[in-house]
Amino acid sequence: MTPRIIPVELFDLVVFGATGVLSQRKLLPALFHRDLQGQIPPGSRIIGCSRRTLSREDFTAFARKAIEDHVPASERPDDVMGRFLERLSYVTADAAQDAGWADLAQTLKPEADRVRVFYLAVGPDLFGPLCEKLASFDLVTPRTRVVIEKPLGKSGASARALNEAIGRVVSEPQVYRIDHYLGKETVQNLMALRFANALFEPVWNSGHVDHVQITVAETLGVEGRAGYYDTAGALRDMVQNHMLQLLCLVAMEPPTSTAANALRDEKLKVLKALKPITGDGVQNLTVRGQYRAGAANGGAVKGYLEELGSASSKTETFVAIKAEIANWRWSGVPFYLRTGKRLPSRVSEIVVTFKPIPHSVFDGQAGPIAPNRLVIRLQPDEGVKLWLMIKDPGPGGMRLSYVPLDMSFADAFNVRNPDAYERLLMDVVRGNQALFMRRDEVEAAWEWIDPILESWSASAEIPKQYTAGTWGPSAAVALIERDGRTWYEDHDLD
Ligand code: BG6
Repeated sequence: MTPRIIPVELFDLVVFGATGVLSQRKLLPALFHRDLQGQIPPGSRIIGCSRRTLSREDFTAFARKAIEDHVPASERPDDVMGRFLERLSYVTADAAQDAGWADLAQTLKPEADRVRVFYLAVGPDLFGPLCEKLASFDLVTPRTRVVIEKPLGKSGASARALNEAIGRVVSEPQVYRIDHYLGKETVQNLMALRFANALFEPVWNSGHVDHVQITVAETLGVEGRAGYYDTAGALRDMVQNHMLQLLCLVAMEPPTSTAANALRDEKLKVLKALKPITGDGVQNLTVRGQYRAGAANGGAVKGYLEELGSASSKTETFVAIKAEIANWRWSGVPFYLRTGKRLPSRVSEIVVTFKPIPHSVFDGQAGPIAPNRLVIRLQPDEGVKLWLMIKDPGPGGMRLSYVPLDMSFADAFNVRNPDAYERLLMDVVRGNQALFMRRDEVEAAWEWIDPILESWSASAEIPKQYTAGTWGPSAAVALIERDGRTWYEDHDLD
């Protein structure tokens, strides 16, 4: 299948933090890929900006290396590389000083009518100061968009403060808060699955769904990010954003359209309907863990504290939560969430388990009848599996087997899966906010997370230890097994 390109308008993109890790690993390779696909109009410019004093040549050398490191050789023909590097320029500017800003203004001025994107690929403490500089050097035009990404605060209060600082300079329709999970192909497929098929919607409720599991498991540890990670932990790093966004897409009511606010209104209702987890609830409904040394990715790995180089830390590298949504559709249906680092495999999936059949017409020799399950695999091996009971083929009476209707997207569509940033960056240029979080969503997510964080930090307990390469602490197994259910593990069923 040939990928389709939706043309975008001519744009100027200024990347603050242009020499940082996000720019190097994600933004430059994603922009290069879009250029390769012919989506970036001739004349569009990418302006790197950071505190470091670099020449244009230094920056293009940095960009070339970033692309060589992150784009396979077969996908970077010389002519496209040349064309891409031609688009780049560089300005040295610092959020704390005025030097350099006039140069940036000068560079942008001749193209004041273009779509203008400021990507703040920097720490959140710089969001406010950078926005002030944009205002004081008069860089915000009506077609300006500002892109930020997590950590969007450490709590509800700090998220509100960030939002206010940005809101003083640009209006909400100009702010693009990235949650890269929303740019993943399969996450968008969730919407196609739910709203482009008539099959699921009638059974997508507490009358038919027993429970939902959302797992985002990683084999990696903190990979040199221990400094950031130790101030965040899995709840802030993964649950407040990615996992709650996934939960919203599973649980929301059908929006009236895919218009940004129609979608975001529905997600917000889900976040507001999450049952607060407070007091004893935190003890009973949440589990936090921290990995100790073990084996992962085929070799021995250090424990979290050793990676951190510290004798103690209460930061969790694993979380499991039993969440509930207090609304008509989902009342009584648990949503079990779990995420962690140094787990046995890298897998992100959503599993919707339906209720058992009300009565079996088969006799004992047919064997047990398992409930239907719909498994949406986000990564790797993106696809959808629907587990069904069927008759075992051949003679020998009526014996039943549990087998999946299995659709792997790689097999069904022979097309490269674009990185989430490719889509998200082009959506920013197009002015489509559907896959970006609105201010009220972020704040509502924090409102649910805050009491859990507060209770953990007030408690003398430390996270439960788990050995690297295992599925987290045994308390996470107990969390779901207490309810007579088990975590879904595909290899058990295959
Ligand atoms: C990031 C987290 O947002 O998501 C990382 O900060 C995590 O800790 C990453 O590893 C996971 O993203 P992906 O796309 O690899 O599933």
